[in-house]
Amino acid sequence: MTVHFIGAGPGAPDLLTLRGRDRIAGSPVCLYAGSLIPTAMLDHCPPGARIVNTAPLSLDQIIAEIQTAHDAGQDVARLHSGDLSIWSAMGEQLRRLRALDIPFTITPGVPAFAAAAAALEVELTLPELVQSVVLTRTPGRASTMPAAETLTAFAATGATLAIHLSVHNLAQVVADLTPSYGPECPVAIVWRASWPDQQIERATLATIAQAIEGKPDRTALILVGKALAAENFVESSLYATGYDRRFRPQSADSKFAGDLA
Ligand SMILES: C[S@@+](CC[C@H](N)C(=O)[O-])C[C@H]1O[C@@H](n2cnc3c(N)ncnc32)[C@H](O)[C@@H]1O
Repeated sequence: MTVHFIGAGPGAPDLLTLRGRDRIAGSPVCLYAGSLIPTAMLDHCPPGARIVNTAPLSLDQIIAEIQTAHDAGQDVARLHSGDLSIWSAMGEQLRRLRALDIPFTITPGVPAFAAAAAALEVELTLPELVQSVVLTRTPGRASTMPAAETLTAFAATGATLAIHLSVHNLAQVVADLTPSYGPECPVAIVWRASWPDQQIERATLATIAQAIEGKPDRTALILVGKALAAENFVESSLYATGYDRRFRPQSADSKFAGDLA
């Protein structure tokens, strides 16, 4: 018996990996994390599967479900939204499973920030302009932030910021970022990226608060940084004519000549 942790992607049913789909199909028990998992994902469960929404359950109750399946020798598909490596609460489940000696696998998923960037049709890193993306959040009712991980500190780097779990806190986000990024810095908010009711708002730090009045205050990503609206960035060297590289040696004297033979 194995617990298969599966990143179920940002929402669109066809943004599930083939491996994730097959592991759901092979598991007679499916535990899924609430409303961010589209019900279409559950169509991959085998007939008669036990399907449990874990949103109202405590960690102890979730582990009890897994233990029951373990005792019955039944594999479990454990679905979380997006990818499992960020804000999935997988870490605490893995710790319990290791202690109980219950085997598991992990199948990555498409994270929401990638789906939001796709919806915006932007690359978050651009040559010489910005080469880092910070995945972060602001403090919530159930989660404090480590003291050094402030938006002000991240803003000092000029990186593209992908701010999760924070659209309800936009006024504070704007106040923290404006001193470093300036009021004209581009901002985009994507609600429910890849879902049929996806919404997008583009503005600047100065105008975003007014632009989103009346919009939902959850399940949105705030993206901030100059990459969002940059036009005059340099092209990458990788594809530049004359750039000597392993897959495109420029002469017989190239150190890469012969590598493709
Ligand atoms: C608990 S975190 C889960 C993140 C997830 N593990 C991931 O890889 O994207 C939930 C937050 O992710 C963001 N999020 C999740 N799905 C989203 C989507 N489809 N569109 C926009 N933001 C989304 C929102 O900021 C939301 O508050």
